[in-house]
Amino acid sequence: MGRRLSTEPVTTAVSEGRTAGAPATLTAAGVAKSYGTLRVLAQIDVSVAPGEVVAVLGPSGCGKSTLLRVLAGLEPPDRGRVEIGGQPVRGPSPDRPMVVQGATLFPWLTLRANLEWGPKALGNRQAGAIVDELLEATGLSGSADLLPRQLSGGMRQRAAIAQVLANQPPLLLLDEPFGALDAQTRLRMQEWLIGLLAERRTATLLVTHDVEEALLLGHRLLRLSHRPATVLEELALDLPSPRGRSTLSDPRFVHLKGDVLTRVLDA
Ligand SMILES: Nc1ncnc2c1ncn2[C@@H]1O[C@H](COP(=O)(O)OP(=O)(O)OP(=O)(O)O)[C@@H](O)[C@H]1O
Ligand SMILES: [Mg+2]
Repeated sequence: MGRRLSTEPVTTAVSEGRTAGAPATLTAAGVAKSYGTLRVLAQIDVSVAPGEVVAVLGPSGCGKSTLLRVLAGLEPPDRGRVEIGGQPVRGPSPDRPMVVQGATLFPWLTLRANLEWGPKALGNRQAGAIVDELLEATGLSGSADLLPRQLSGGMRQRAAIAQVLANQPPLLLLDEPFGALDAQTRLRMQEWLIGLLAERRTATLLVTHDVEEALLLGHRLLRLSHRPATVLEELALDLPSPRGRSTLSDPRFVHLKGDVLTRVLDA
């Protein structure tokens, strides 16, 4: 399976003079990372274009969260390069928010105030309107004045994703965002996220343990090896759109799922 590095045109200058909301391509090439003598990432090449969701599957402890932290600029790679919109990533930025499980909302702020915090801090005068739209999109309009502790787990998780989308990032990094949810809530959330990402064309890298989730949301799948991680294979997931609950019983999906599961189990 050929690895591809995107040569998509730069859609926006990130950081300086960033066009809010304009999606950008993420490119990582030859990324390696160790912690002391522990080699975690051996050689990772990945690209995510605007409008694309790339799912990353790999065994526990292989370095998926480490990879996301490197892509987010939270940790430097030992080797290789990471670029967003053609600009090298040199540190963390609201342009590359990472949503982790149990993501944090400020407990003393209402949901609305939590969502407005980021865009206001960035000096965005449209904060109120952006947040109204996100509350609507996440089905949380009726809960805008509640505190985080008054939300259910699923609502909190939607709120966490809305919170980072409020900053209109060109790129979204998701680390097992729905892992803690029950199966039905997870499916609803997945359908919601599929619609939202398609509408916004936010380049998204989704790390997940769940083969079904990877196939349902991903346009491409990267399967990582055991540590030190390399890309074992890259698969194009050409399943019909729009995807959702009906996709789960689509014969192509069922076949693909069996196929990928076998390879994951045999790895
Ligand atoms: N800051 C750190 N210092 C030292 N070792 C670390 C650090 N962060 C992660 N590791 C180690 O790097 C390896 C990869 O960890 P990482 O969290 O990236 O794995 P993962 O693929 O996300 O696992 P999981 O699927 O269980 O979430 C593990 O062996 C872990 O112990
Ligand atoms: Mg992890």
